[in-house]
Amino acid sequence: MLVNRPPMGWNTWNTFTDQISDSLIRESADAFVDLGLPKAGYEYIVIDDCWSKKLRDPETDRLEADPVKFPNGMKSVADYIHSKGLKFGMYSCAGQRTCADYPGSFDHEFLDAETFASWDVDFLKYDFCYKPNGVDGPLLYRRMGMALRASGRDILFSACNWGSDDVWSWIRSAGAHMYRSTGDINDSPESYRQIVLSQLPRLATSAPQCFNDMDMLTVGMYGKSSNEFIAASGCGDADYRSQFALWCMASAPLMLGCDIRKMDEKTLKLVTNRDLVRINQDAEARPPIYLMHPWLKEKAISMVKFLDDGTYAIAFFNFGEKDEKFMGQGAVENYITFADFGLPNHAGYDVVTRDVFTGEEKTWREYMRVAVEPHDCRVFIAKLQKR
Ligand code: GLA
Repeated sequence: MLVNRPPMGWNTWNTFTDQISDSLIRESADAFVDLGLPKAGYEYIVIDDCWSKKLRDPETDRLEADPVKFPNGMKSVADYIHSKGLKFGMYSCAGQRTCADYPGSFDHEFLDAETFASWDVDFLKYDFCYKPNGVDGPLLYRRMGMALRASGRDILFSACNWGSDDVWSWIRSAGAHMYRSTGDINDSPESYRQIVLSQLPRLATSAPQCFNDMDMLTVGMYGKSSNEFIAASGCGDADYRSQFALWCMASAPLMLGCDIRKMDEKTLKLVTNRDLVRINQDAEARPPIYLMHPWLKEKAISMVKFLDDGTYAIAFFNFGEKDEKFMGQGAVENYITFADFGLPNHAGYDVVTRDVFTGEEKTWREYMRVAVEPHDCRVFIAKLQKR
């Protein structure tokens, strides 16, 4: 199965945790289509943990849907999602129980992969709780990777072992198409910043066929979740811009986590921003070059990503706080010198940029310098122009 671009979709966990149901999924699939998300590239509707009965069927040993949450069974949910032109994702776990204490797939990998295939599942998120001590984690991902391939259906394999066992070094070999590289996100600036800072040295591990999953987005949640830990402090719009832009620069899967039935205009505009999604879905998925300012450090991060059509994405982030004063403004003046990215001034080219948020065009010589407010970002599509 070819997964050439970072997968895009929506997952139930961040907002709903165990508060999921057949009607929630159908309403969300309806909203997903009505908002025009498929036109922007989003395609998966993924049900996370808490969908099954607490025990396997005693006779068949198979996983079964919770009859209260999903009275029509999972195949019926899959049919509905497919009837809307979307793809259907589900969740299981490499250990004996899932993280929220439902049956896991340990020692049932092939049976469960067959069950998922029989329900026409297109995507499986595979978690890591309750792994028996002494059992090798990578082996369990290989098992499920093989089981999915044997199931007779193309099922995207979304591994979720939170970065343990140096996952980036073996997960491609286990057949995964994306892999979680960190612990769980929550809806706070600290959380997405910490995820990004931990993955900066590993940007090159996100590549076609197996993308580095920095977790489901909190963009548009504004602190609303059935789980207090995930709701956290909530974020402001500048943080959501930064989070989304960072996931795009990093070629990370774009799995929305807000309540899409209530998505506001600002959020919709952001997550369907053509330039940002284009940066994320670039066919070459090259890791951006990144620099940190020598003394402002993460208050002034800059990135340059080579794109497949010969243009470049240039992005600036400010992980500082509003009460810190730089240049008396709160904003930092961040800059890149084009020579640092391969363009010496004497080569005779200027750089023309277009701001992905405002559309404003500008021509720069030798370096570019922009103001970036705390928590916010600036992102540009750039091309070289002969002087
Ligand atoms: C783990 C995963 C989360 C989510 C929960 C479900 O914590 O990392 O993304 O799937 O389990 O219980």
